[in-house]
Amino acid sequence: MNKKATISIDGKNYDFPVLEGTVGPDTIDITKLYALTNNFTIDPGFTSTASCESSITYIDGDKGECYYRGYPMDELAEKSTFLEVVHLLWNGSLPTKDEWFEYSEAIKNHTMVHEQMKSFFNGFRRGSHPMAILTSVVAAMSAFYPDSTDVNDLDQRKIAARRMIAKVPTLAAMAYKYSIGQPFIYPDNSLDYSENFLQMTFGVPAEKYKINKVLSRALDKIFILHADHEQNASTSTVRLAASSGVNPFASISSGFTSLWGPLHGGANEAALNMLREIGDVKNIPKFIEKAKDKNDPFKLMGFGHRVYKNYDPRAKVMQKTCHEVLSEIGKKDDKILQVALELEKIALKDDYFIEKKLYPNIDFYSGITLNAMGFPSTMFTPLFAVARTAGWIAHWKEMYLDPKNRIGRPRQLYIGEKPRKFLELKDRS
Ligand code: ACO
Repeated sequence: MNKKATISIDGKNYDFPVLEGTVGPDTIDITKLYALTNNFTIDPGFTSTASCESSITYIDGDKGECYYRGYPMDELAEKSTFLEVVHLLWNGSLPTKDEWFEYSEAIKNHTMVHEQMKSFFNGFRRGSHPMAILTSVVAAMSAFYPDSTDVNDLDQRKIAARRMIAKVPTLAAMAYKYSIGQPFIYPDNSLDYSENFLQMTFGVPAEKYKINKVLSRALDKIFILHADHEQNASTSTVRLAASSGVNPFASISSGFTSLWGPLHGGANEAALNMLREIGDVKNIPKFIEKAKDKNDPFKLMGFGHRVYKNYDPRAKVMQKTCHEVLSEIGKKDDKILQVALELEKIALKDDYFIEKKLYPNIDFYSGITLNAMGFPSTMFTPLFAVARTAGWIAHWKEMYLDPKNRIGRPRQLYIGEKPRKFLELKDRS
């Protein structure tokens, strides 16, 4: 039997269909609400609102589980590679051997960027934040690759997506190199995706860069963990921007912009800064009290999540990866890691955090891990963006294939002045 929901307004009942997903909560379809009742709904922050149908990622926030195209994300992080996951998100299936050969070769073919893009970088002040550079250069790809900007052409959509997957790491490494005054390092296609990113970031022309397999595997896992997370702020931004029909590079650059904020992709930088500020386990109780104080804006960065009301599954893998990286570089007893472990232990036993279901999120351990790998904190969000590009392009594609897709145009509850008369300046007192 088809489920329905009834809304009663001024004694009149209106029925709306209730849609069932494969898993997860049912969804009341209120598309016709305004036409039938002349009412809107309001939901700031979209706590109860699904903005689209999607088959890409499913999160069970109560259980603390996340699935990419039906596969547990933590299993993919352990057993798969980032590029395979990109293929999975885009196509809906893990690549067969033949598909893998074609896909990985195609991505390699696109790793270099237009040589003239180098001069574009020169317009930025040295020391610019890499995200400031990246938000602009990703949008600028539409000027450098105009042959893949037609969103109505399936082939161009595919090429644009492949270009972004291949070139965003190159651009992110270039943004870093530019910000520290070192020469750009070209991609090396004999390396895999994450190895190549490490050599473009840390290599210098004067000597051969030596790949550390533990670190490159850790980075690959980190990319997988960040690859997609359904309709988060940056993904929804990409979808909304793209709904106007703008070219793919402009759409994806809007995701970069949204991701940069400290409540989203910038939280790992903020979490590491917080752990450094705490500095010693003996200072933890003071910071816990600050986080609980309603009159203090301080929050435990890397804690809490809109969807997860249980331990973020990404944080579990990240904590393990953090131990692997620190042990590889001989910093098992790192003081900041000790602060993080103790802070987590204390917070998870504290009534405030238990009642509000606040658990460590992915950002809690990612800052320590990336820092130990040699990345400065300004590169944390660019790394997140490299990974999330996979999710953004998959959602972008899905949106175009959805026959229900229309330009996004939310409404509002207007609380301003009622229409009033204009007075000439001379008549205003
Ligand atoms: N420390 C202390 N208190 C917190 C924290 C925290 N980290 N997070 C939430 N709370 C409290 C809030 O003050 C609020 O309390 P109240 O009900 O008494 O007003 C309650 O818990 C609910 O929190 P909201 O902020 O309303 O939850 P929301 O879903 O809007 O926000 C968010 C989620 C932004 C992640 C929030 O938990 C937060 O700011 N965390 C710190 C930043 C962070 O780690 N962001 C990374 C998110 S993961 C990602 O983007 C990859």
